[in-house]
Amino acid sequence: MSNFFDKLIIRQLRPDDIDFIVDIDTKVLGETRRDYWVNKIIKQADTRPPDASLVAEIDGKVVGFILGEVSGWEFKVPNNIGWIDTIGIDPDYQNRGIAKVLANNLITNLKRYNVDTIYTLVNWNDWDLLQFFHAMGFSRGDMINLVLKV
Ligand SMILES: CC(C)(COP(=O)(O)OP(=O)(O)OC[C@H]1O[C@@H](n2cnc3c(N)ncnc32)[C@H](O)[C@@H]1OP(=O)(O)O)[C@@H](O)C(=O)NCCC(=O)NCCS
Repeated sequence: MSNFFDKLIIRQLRPDDIDFIVDIDTKVLGETRRDYWVNKIIKQADTRPPDASLVAEIDGKVVGFILGEVSGWEFKVPNNIGWIDTIGIDPDYQNRGIAKVLANNLITNLKRYNVDTIYTLVNWNDWDLLQFFHAMGFSRGDMINLVLKV
């Protein structure tokens, strides 16, 4: 196990990581959403600080990623709210602590922008993510999601 963590590299996401991200997402969700990720990672790259998009790499392979944001950053008025937008770990590499390492690295980076509160949105049915965020110390916030079907 220590050998495993010795090999784990956390670094900033690069545009050429996109194939790995698309692969991880396909493994997790069972469908391929390349356009979605091109839009999110490449076209929207300017909306997040570069050190808020991280990947976990082992032996040259990206096995997990996390995308974070700082509210107001793109408009040069960062405030104290940071976001975890998306996290995904290759199913072959889950349950080894990689998501936790990624999230802790992201939180450290977000704090540099004076973030003291981190938000994330999770689907109520997404038990893996709910359990993970619970294990990270997240609790239910004050906002609720209102829906009107029209
Ligand atoms: C949720 C997810 C990020 C967890 O990744 P992981 O690398 O397996 O998590 P870790 O091993 O770092 O676990 C960290 C903590 O969360 C807990 N945890 C993680 N997944 C859990 C689960 N399914 N059930 C219970 N606890 C869980 C671990 O027990 C651990 O707790 P500890 O710190 O008390 O030991 C991963 O399962 C995932 O990527 N799921 C898909 C998410 C998704 O849909 N993303 C969008 C598309 S890519």
